[in-house]
Amino acid sequence: MENKDFTCVILAAGQGTRMKSDMPKVLHKVCGLALVEHVIQACRSIGEPVVIIGNGSEKVKALLGDGVSYALQAERKGTGHAVMECFAQAEINTEYTLVCAGDMPLITGASLEKLCACMEGKGACVLSASMEDPFGYGRIIRNADGTFKKIVEQKDATAEEALVNEVNTSVYVFKTKLLADALKRITPANAQGEYYLTDCLEIINRTEPIGVMCLEDATEAFGINDRIQLAEAAAIMQRKINNMHMRNGVTLVDPCNTYIEAGVEIGSDTVIYPGSYIGKGSKIGKNCILMGGNRFDNAVVGDGCTVEASVLLNCKVGDGTTVGPNAYLRPKAVIGNNARIGDFVEIKNATIGDGSKVSHLSYVGDATVGKKCNIGCGTVFVNYDGKHKHRSVVGDNVFVGSNSNLIAPVELKDGAYIAAGSTVTRDIPSGSLCVARSREYIKEGWADELRRSWEREK
Ligand code: UD1
Ligand code: CA
Repeated sequence: MENKDFTCVILAAGQGTRMKSDMPKVLHKVCGLALVEHVIQACRSIGEPVVIIGNGSEKVKALLGDGVSYALQAERKGTGHAVMECFAQAEINTEYTLVCAGDMPLITGASLEKLCACMEGKGACVLSASMEDPFGYGRIIRNADGTFKKIVEQKDATAEEALVNEVNTSVYVFKTKLLADALKRITPANAQGEYYLTDCLEIINRTEPIGVMCLEDATEAFGINDRIQLAEAAAIMQRKINNMHMRNGVTLVDPCNTYIEAGVEIGSDTVIYPGSYIGKGSKIGKNCILMGGNRFDNAVVGDGCTVEASVLLNCKVGDGTTVGPNAYLRPKAVIGNNARIGDFVEIKNATIGDGSKVSHLSYVGDATVGKKCNIGCGTVFVNYDGKHKHRSVVGDNVFVGSNSNLIAPVELKDGAYIAAGSTVTRDIPSGSLCVARSREYIKEGWADELRRSWEREK
């Protein structure tokens, strides 16, 4: 079966009342991605996703953008009704339709693929899971010979049916044509007065066999209804993500206290100490040491770097560079190789060349700094005049003495040397010294004379 034969319908129209949120349930995040984004990712290898939206539909669209198509379920009349709306609005002409709930972030593409592979000779296949406590889920009811009979919802189940531990995960593959026909025949004659998608299986089963595939890892079926389950899902997913990195050769000193969002890449022999939060889009090289207290978001760090207690946002750090403790690399900070960004240094929209050092207490904003420069302690790149931002350019091998101010726009050409405490307002030619501070004045004996005058006052 080729993947172009599948459309993936994702149910995401519900509000999720128990989340007690202004945001639709499927937008709550687990390990950096919204619940529905995890489901979409799992579906990607199967076929094109169509997301059924209703509550907070604009917010869902704003997050997911144009990468998926949408169908609107204006009124929530059940999972069957949601798919009916989808068929009415989206043209589904693939041979098969996969349906998946949007609130089950732990489902994997591998399980969906296995389910699709079960379709041979079946009208539909349902993914089931064996739950210790099946309460709340629909139960898979089988015939005496073990074949599929029907699904009963918790609220419709007899006492005997409620004892069944095998539950419906809310993931199915249907022959599209059979699903479209069955949807016309389901009714809301049940305890909740809803159109149940699950009833379609019973209808299809009158003419074609229904496959049931039980998940090996029942946690994949975990559906999120409240914030406690959200945290539980995050813990399960974090463990899986962390295990994956450890298998790839990354040392996590305390995996229970290391937060790495989905999709982060980390090279082998990198060691991560407790208390780091590595956000999505980040890419960490090999042989790095990440001490505690880091927060990364979309940060790219090369090989052999050491970073401690620092915030790195939308920025890039070359190989062999050390950052922190307590550095703040803001968007578009690009740090070269073998550089040093020290404590209480903030860098924004600025390039720092290879081998350059900004070791302590500095602000570098809107600047280009060349190679092998030394930006002394307390240097401020004065980039803002109250209305506009201006750029500074520093060449290679420039020495900026401590506590200097560079008033942008300004250029310090290669090899320039700025005396400590200077306020530089004009371009400095290559190889020149700039001393831009008032001349020292020394009056010998002055302080002694002052103290003697105080003595006399007593
Ligand atoms: C559903 C299944 C149940 C299964 C359980 C797994 C039915 C009738 N029951 O029950 O067998 O064990 O999921 O979690 O399908 N949704 C819409 N529009 C609607 C109603 C729901 O888009 O009108 C969406 C929700 O946003 C959610 C998903 O469908 O993402 C599941 O809906 P939910 O109300 O949670 O179904 P359950 O009662 O849990
Ligand atoms: Ca549910």
